[in-house]
Amino acid sequence: MAPARGKGSKRTPAKGNLSTRVSHAGRDRSLTHGGVNPVVQRASTVIVESAAKLFEPGGWTYGRHGTATHEALKEALCEIEGSSHCALAPSGLMACIIPFLAFAKHGGHVLVGDNVYGPTRRFVDRMLKRWGVEVTYFDPEISAGIAELIRADTSVLFVESPGSMTFEVADAPAMAAAARAAGVISVMDNTWSGGVFHKPLALGFDISVQANTKYVSGGADILNGAMHTNTEDVFTQLKDTVADLGSNVAPDDAYAVLRGARSLPLRMNQHEKAALIVARWLKNHPSVQRVLHPALEDDPGHALWKRDFTGSSGLFSIAVKKAPTEQVHAFLDALELFSLGFSYGGFESLAIHCDPQLKRTVSKPDLPGPLIRLSVGLEDPADLIADLEQALAKLG
Ligand SMILES: Cc1ncc(COP(=O)(O)O)c(C=O)c1O
Repeated sequence: MAPARGKGSKRTPAKGNLSTRVSHAGRDRSLTHGGVNPVVQRASTVIVESAAKLFEPGGWTYGRHGTATHEALKEALCEIEGSSHCALAPSGLMACIIPFLAFAKHGGHVLVGDNVYGPTRRFVDRMLKRWGVEVTYFDPEISAGIAELIRADTSVLFVESPGSMTFEVADAPAMAAAARAAGVISVMDNTWSGGVFHKPLALGFDISVQANTKYVSGGADILNGAMHTNTEDVFTQLKDTVADLGSNVAPDDAYAVLRGARSLPLRMNQHEKAALIVARWLKNHPSVQRVLHPALEDDPGHALWKRDFTGSSGLFSIAVKKAPTEQVHAFLDALELFSLGFSYGGFESLAIHCDPQLKRTVSKPDLPGPLIRLSVGLEDPADLIADLEQALAKLG
């Protein structure tokens, strides 16, 4: 059996286009032991070869710091996000939270997009504030205007683009530049794009967060997250915070995420194609007032999306015609192929009612009717359209 590789060892760069690189990353023989896939190395204890190795800097000495399976996953994830370093987290939410824990300071200040994922906001409101960190929420369409909100004690700028319910697209390069000029760590929740269609690090962000729970794993059966960076110092701080927290990812989970990641580029292309077919059909439906999808030409975020993204995922929202909540529920309950569930990125289509979850304080979205989020899965879009058509009839 080949010796397990230490976490400080160099990764083998993969070659070719994204789908090729994702197929080949993390397959060094030291990680696979001759199989196609890495070993699932379940280890708390790591046996080192000599006393000197016990304290070797960068040595691989304890299971909490990762095993061969985690190394293999990280190599593939770095290929997807275009990052040199990546730290894993046991959920996407933890991957959103850890950058705050790593960089926010007691008595200091952070900036958070008004449209961020609800539980990210909940962490900021419930925990960060209690620990003496002041929070300013900002309009997700603020662009370079973010510079005016940056203070001498601001340490973190947290952006989610597009917002995962209301789909505003951030002016990422302008915001990253403002943060960099002020020495603020910029973080982008990049989950919508699956890491395939949007590269926040290349646009100047310090950290790109990916909830691998969604598109990257793709099977709706695993919770996982990653924080990516191209900066050594930022990575050290993230990695040390993960170590401080004792936060770890089970090797079986790492294996399952990697298995999903291999087909990510292919799946993203299908999600994109199918979602656009469904979204364009919905635009012409009399019960739909607005489709919130940045790849549609008349969407307010379209110009920024076109400039900064290379594609779109399967997640978008619709504002349906004004109707009492019971009627909105009747529409959702009538869906047969779209299941009702709080997630996306899996092979199965999902729908949720967003209004009860919109916790905005500084930039209320101007919506003409109840907001429904759809995650278009890998089913045939013609079947999904037929399902929506019969269910929308319940809206009257
Ligand atoms: C944009 C976004 N970020 C982060 C998360 C959190 O991921 P997880 O459910 O793995 O904690 C989610 C989950 O829905 C999400 O939509």
